[in-house]
Amino acid sequence: MVATSATARDGWSSRTAFILAAIGSAVGLGNLVRFPAEAGANGGGAFVLFYILCIVLIGLPVLLCETLIGRHGQAAAPESYRKLAVESGASKAWELVASLGVFSAFLVLSFYCVLGGWVLYYIGTFGADLVATGVSGPAFDGLSYEEVDALFPAMISNGIVTSLLDILFLGITLLFVARGVSGGIEKVAVYLMPTFFVLLLGITIYGFFGGAMEQTFAYLFTFEPEKLTPEVMLAAVGQAFFSLSLGVAGMVTYGAYVGRDVNLAGTSAIIAGADTAVALIAGLCIFPIVFAAGLAPNGGLGLMFQTLPHAFQEIPFGSLIGLAFFVMVAFAALTSSVALMEVPTAWVIDRFGLRRGAAAGLVTLGAAVLGVLSALSTGVLSGFHPLGFIPIFEGMGTLDALDGLTSKLTMPIAALLTSVFVGWIADRRLVDSENGLSGGLHLFWRFLVRFACPLVLAAIMVFGVIG
Ligand code: PHE
Repeated sequence: MVATSATARDGWSSRTAFILAAIGSAVGLGNLVRFPAEAGANGGGAFVLFYILCIVLIGLPVLLCETLIGRHGQAAAPESYRKLAVESGASKAWELVASLGVFSAFLVLSFYCVLGGWVLYYIGTFGADLVATGVSGPAFDGLSYEEVDALFPAMISNGIVTSLLDILFLGITLLFVARGVSGGIEKVAVYLMPTFFVLLLGITIYGFFGGAMEQTFAYLFTFEPEKLTPEVMLAAVGQAFFSLSLGVAGMVTYGAYVGRDVNLAGTSAIIAGADTAVALIAGLCIFPIVFAAGLAPNGGLGLMFQTLPHAFQEIPFGSLIGLAFFVMVAFAALTSSVALMEVPTAWVIDRFGLRRGAAAGLVTLGAAVLGVLSALSTGVLSGFHPLGFIPIFEGMGTLDALDGLTSKLTMPIAALLTSVFVGWIADRRLVDSENGLSGGLHLFWRFLVRFACPLVLAAIMVFGVIG
């Protein structure tokens, strides 16, 4: 291993640290904002149940593929793909799959931190409200329903605010990534993830007693087959990849810091299970409050940024719970943005031999430039549609277009090629020595990776994109 390798000096200090960091990467705005928004926009139960199927039959097998490629390679993602390809007597061009992933991670980082910035804004808003109105009262005392509703459009259309907060969120991410794996990335996960779980459970229990639980269960878990269109399926697959951080070489990168003693199959199952549980809990946390307030479930991003603040307006301790809620969201987002930044950073370190701090700084700079385009796309640049020439992205501003491009195209493509690589190309003995599976489960995983993942992904993408 060369001395400049991203992994040469550093790695997770324990299995628990890896699990928490990987769960930290997986659990984020994807679970708390995107999952409820997508479920609401795509008809509830049909989406949710297909999503769970995607996680188990496609996401989890691919997650194991990614972590095993990373652990085997012990290097940045393209290097790890190349190593496995060359040792298997295959073309080193397979590293291009990882390069696509690294590029996607960079794109996701650029718009993810814009959303992170929005969350910071709400922390500030609820924080100020808490100081103004005191601990025990509802949030936004004295503001009307319409005035609270107007906070969100006012914020996202203010390009200066969204751009500065985007850069602030990127800067906070940089602080941790620059410190390295065990000194920074791991610390943020080990401290923030447990806090996140406590806050999430607290707020959900509150909703259990105060909100419209019955209606929520009916909405999220009633399966209506006629609602399962190709677009809904593509949205569910895309959400599964986004949520598990797959197809962006993220789990390959984190896998490279894992010791040989860790059973990758077991840990992958823990990661996928925790991620799915958090998405469902987020649904059970948000929709009861939405339904109890008589509001519609298909509010998209407005669900979190408009509908919930209304709910906090109604309840005692609203400012405090609102503040706790957005702090929790920010923690989850930060452990994900750290993972997103680590992918291109590890690549720059390996490829150009830069020091970690400089590499992470360079990635931050690039993400800030692109991020500002996304930050402005909900305001002055809303008429700029960079991918408007592709029908499914027609009329979308930079933020939505990059989100669609990555979750609906580049991530599924990278995941599809990864499953073909591990299932058909890579030397079976090398794969088997890493995956930690045996017996029937092993055969089932192999079947999923060789046949189910590539075929289902290809079919869903063809039908979902063509319509
Ligand atoms: N999985 C993260 C989330 O749900 C987003 C993410 C995608 C993080 C890809 C890392 C890599 O918020």
